[in-house]
Amino acid sequence: MNESRICIALDFQTKAEVEEFLDKFQEEKLYVKVGMELFYGEGIEMIKAIKERGHKIFLDLKLHDIPNTVKSAMKQLAKLDVDMVNVHASGSVAMMKAAIDGLQEGSIHGHRPLCIAVTCLTSLDQEILDNELLIHEPLEDVVLKWAENAKEAGLDGVVCSPLESKSIHEHLGMDFLTVTPGIRLASDSVNDQKRVTTPAMAKDLTSSYIVVGRTITRADNPVETYREVYRQFQGE
Ligand code: C5P
Repeated sequence: MNESRICIALDFQTKAEVEEFLDKFQEEKLYVKVGMELFYGEGIEMIKAIKERGHKIFLDLKLHDIPNTVKSAMKQLAKLDVDMVNVHASGSVAMMKAAIDGLQEGSIHGHRPLCIAVTCLTSLDQEILDNELLIHEPLEDVVLKWAENAKEAGLDGVVCSPLESKSIHEHLGMDFLTVTPGIRLASDSVNDQKRVTTPAMAKDLTSSYIVVGRTITRADNPVETYREVYRQFQGE
C-alpha cells in the first residue's frame, strides 16, 4: 500500500479505546486524526503512543487566537512531531502567518507539520452567515476567499467539502491541499453530515486527503472497511 491519504478520525474518549481500535490493524503506517475530544482527554501521552506505533497524525485542534498566541502554541505543537495541524482561516492572514512561523520555530529535524485552514465550518450555512455573523457574500465566495488568504499566508491547504475541492484546486492550484470530511460508503447511514460523498467520488472531485470517522470506527469490521475506502480512493 502507498502512503495513506485517508485520515481515520479517532473520535474516541479514551486511550484504551484507541489502543483497542489500532490493535486490529496490520498496516504499518496509518494516517489518523486526533481531535479535541481525544486530545483534551488523553493529551500528549496519546500522541506519543500513536507515534510509537509509527502512524502519521493530523492533530485537529483548529487554533484561533491573536497571532502571537497562535505562534507560541504552534511552536509547542510542532515539538510533538505531528504531521498536520490546523487553524481557522477567519483568524486573519496575520494569524495564519504567525502559525507557520511558530511551526517553523518548533520543528524537529527541519520537518514542519503541514498546516491547513478551516474555511467555513460545514455546520454553517448562508442563513447563519447573513443573520448571525453579518457576512452577506455567498458562502462559496467566502470559502474561496478564505482559502486564498490561507495560501497567501503560506499554508499548505484547507479543510473543505469534497464538493468544494475542484474549484479550490482550479483557483489555487493542485498543490494546494484539500482535506475533505463528509465521506460515507454507499451502504452507510449519513449520521449528522449534511452532504456526503463516497471515497470514489471524492477522488474524482480531486480531494487530496479524505477524513473518515464513523464509517470506519463504527464498522463491524473496521479493517476491511478501511481497505475498501482505500481501494476506492486509490481508484482500484
Ligand atoms: O464520523 P465522520 O466521518 O462524520 O467524522 C468526520 C470527522 O471530520 C470528525 O472528526 C469531524 O469533527 C471532522 N470534520 C467534519 N467537518 C468539518 C470539519 C471536520 O466532519 N467541516
